[in-house]
Amino acid sequence: MTLRVGVLTGGGDCAGLNSAIKWVTKTALDPFLDVRRQTRMEVVGIRDGWRGLVEVEPDDPESVARWTLPLNELLVRTWDRYGGTNLGTSRVNPFSAKEDRSRQVLEHIGALGLDVLVAIGGEDTLSVAHRLDRLGVRVVGIPKTIDRDLSATDYTLGYDTALNVIAEEVDRLRTTAGSHSRTFVVETMGRHAGWLALEGGEAAGAYIILIPEWDFEIDRVVELLDRRRSAGVRYEIVVVSEGAKVRGGAEVYLSDKSDEFGHKVLGGIAQTLSREIEKRGGWETRYVVLSHLQRGGQPSAHDRLMGRRFGIAAVDLILKGAFGRMTALVRGEIDSVPLEAALERLYTVDVDRYYDTDRYNGRRCAILQ
Ligand code: F6P
Repeated sequence: MTLRVGVLTGGGDCAGLNSAIKWVTKTALDPFLDVRRQTRMEVVGIRDGWRGLVEVEPDDPESVARWTLPLNELLVRTWDRYGGTNLGTSRVNPFSAKEDRSRQVLEHIGALGLDVLVAIGGEDTLSVAHRLDRLGVRVVGIPKTIDRDLSATDYTLGYDTALNVIAEEVDRLRTTAGSHSRTFVVETMGRHAGWLALEGGEAAGAYIILIPEWDFEIDRVVELLDRRRSAGVRYEIVVVSEGAKVRGGAEVYLSDKSDEFGHKVLGGIAQTLSREIEKRGGWETRYVVLSHLQRGGQPSAHDRLMGRRFGIAAVDLILKGAFGRMTALVRGEIDSVPLEAALERLYTVDVDRYYDTDRYNGRRCAILQ
């Protein structure tokens, strides 16, 4: 029996996706493993996430060549070293409220002869996979998102590389901040989850960290900064998550437009905050929005490794016939969980456990009594 496996990456890109695609492909086509298996596999990459399955016209060879890419070991050999996704991605939602194209997707999966789909994505991409699973499509998920906001897994691809970017960029800012004796406000991504800001800020040694899970007061931020200035320190780094908000205020958006999953693009809180610090504190303050730099660049060793492990685990799930599940890291081991469990709720920072609401920083207490 030969299983035709489709692979796609959806949502925001990040480091580690190419590693996952490579290891799905290599494991599925591994000639050494093939000898021991009853099932043979072929792997087809779908371009631009769910858009590929919406747009492809299976009867037109040109369209099939445009939206799909047969994968083999030679082709994917070097992919794990590179960031982004060589298959492309999009935020197309086949179940979008504006236009439901799920019927097309179901037809195209059938017409392309795909027996299984491996969907590599975050909350949005995997929610589509979950709905397709309920409609009878055989799907396996691999978690990725720099926001690390999926439940039921301790790791999502891209997170480690993004943390490294934050730490590196803050290191760079320190020298100029110190020379000019300025406060720098650094805005990270993360949407409604503060993990990137919190752990990126902790890793970078930021003086203040502001997260969406705890609304902050500007006067308190200025008071803390002032205290440090008075102690003779020349500069401060404030890390603020794009989803953080002033107490009593609202999230700051770059635009009012929403994507097909209903998300508006967050951004701008660092600018607002830096203006207020300068006004109320009376010293020079600048801001930097790290934005998509956090999603770019070469994958860290950890993301390459996790891409490899999740890719291999996805093929294990296929061979076991364990569909509707997502590969996961659970207490340090590679495992799998139902897609439903990963999507049940957004995994956000537990303030009581990890955040100091007085100091606006990570808690200095690791083992709770
Ligand atoms: O979900 C991943 C993420 O990088 C968020 O942190 C961010 O808010 C969003 O995607 C940005 O999306 P886009 O690339 O569409 O601007």
